[in-house]
Amino acid sequence: MSHRLTQAQLDAHWMAYTGNRQFKKDPRIITSAAGNYYTDSDGRKIFDGLSGLWTCGLGHSNPAINEAVAEQVKTLDYSPAFQFGHEKSFLLAEQITEFMPAGLNRIFFTGSGSESVDTALKVARAYWRKKGMGTKTKFIGRAKGYHGAGISGFSVGGIPANRTLYGQGLESYHLPHTQVPGSEFSKGMAEQGKERAEDLLNLIMMHDASNIAAVIVEPMSGSAGVIVPPKGYLQRLREICDQHNILLIFDEVITAFGRMGAKTGAEAFGVTPDVITMAKQVTNGVIPMGAVAFKQEIYDTFMDNGGPDYMLEIPHGYTYSAHPIACAAGLASLSEIKKQGLIERVSSMSSVWEDSVHQLKDASPMITDIRNYGFAAGITIAPIDGEPAKRPFQIAMAMWDKGYYVRYGADTIQLAPPFTTEQSEIDSLVNALGETIKQQR
Ligand SMILES: Cc1ncc(COP(=O)(O)O)c(C=O)c1O
Repeated sequence: MSHRLTQAQLDAHWMAYTGNRQFKKDPRIITSAAGNYYTDSDGRKIFDGLSGLWTCGLGHSNPAINEAVAEQVKTLDYSPAFQFGHEKSFLLAEQITEFMPAGLNRIFFTGSGSESVDTALKVARAYWRKKGMGTKTKFIGRAKGYHGAGISGFSVGGIPANRTLYGQGLESYHLPHTQVPGSEFSKGMAEQGKERAEDLLNLIMMHDASNIAAVIVEPMSGSAGVIVPPKGYLQRLREICDQHNILLIFDEVITAFGRMGAKTGAEAFGVTPDVITMAKQVTNGVIPMGAVAFKQEIYDTFMDNGGPDYMLEIPHGYTYSAHPIACAAGLASLSEIKKQGLIERVSSMSSVWEDSVHQLKDASPMITDIRNYGFAAGITIAPIDGEPAKRPFQIAMAMWDKGYYVRYGADTIQLAPPFTTEQSEIDSLVNALGETIKQQR
């Protein structure tokens, strides 16, 4: 532990989603990153087993992104987000639409995934009001869903630990998650669990479609430990939303731009929602940015009912919406994904990834489930009585000591290596994880 920080400096930073007391006793300080590896303050090389926080699929310190950012800082460091524009936001919006399903072609920029979720939910309510259906205000999320840290995100989110401290949120109800008995160790999409979509009908019966604005789900839940949709499940949600005039929002903050071996989760799973939220991979994590893709009819509803044309069609936005440096990073990042053929690479290597992570099944009886899709995997670890989160924490710390960064959350270990990962790196990551889990008690 050779970092130079004093205790007072460590104490001054109240760290996000971190066990601050434990961290400050034993800090894990990252000093640089290049390609698929970090270097820590002891000079150790550490494999990036979660691509940052699902952000850096291109690996770190990509020269094209670095140059684009450096150039942009020198040329136009900031320009006002409201009432005035700069070219790169329009170029990036068009680029993003190339990755989105046909018809989701109107892009609103935000500063993060949480703001993207806020934007999608606010627009959903305002859309129905513009259409004369102002009672459609309730939201439906899903158990184990993660939609960011804002008041709206925690309301529709379904990870208990993220909700219990915060009291009342937006009026939201939750579908059950899809981890049904018998689906354990499914490779890719499980056969079981589609029927959980029928619960949407119960919620509609209870609250009436005339009061429901939108259903929001991650096509693949990331933060809860890679919960892949069962076959036919998302299709059924789509059908029910259509039948009852409810907007369907896919939160693709993790799944957009390649993680699934497809442009989006929507493309991977063959279901087109009305709205897609995104962030993270759009700039390869280099500069904070989020965005929301809306189907054109939603945009047109605001334009057609916007009053005189000098008036705002929707009073919503952020100081950092379409920040020029983020736009420059986004343009370079999306262009690199295309140039390097990384979506195709993830797609073609996903079976190698799948075979490798599922070999862990025999490593330890503590592993009670393994799930995978694209370049993502979640491993459920049997809990210590009364301390369900402890073993994953211990495993992640032991992995860090061995030179691998993996994420732990609730009773799971989560893996999402860069799109550029080689088979030998997959093998060594998975072997190290198997050995580490075997050593647990
Ligand atoms: C699906 C999903 N939605 C929203 C968010 C929130 O994004 P941010 O942390 O950028 O606000 C996340 C972050 O992990 C996410 O995974």
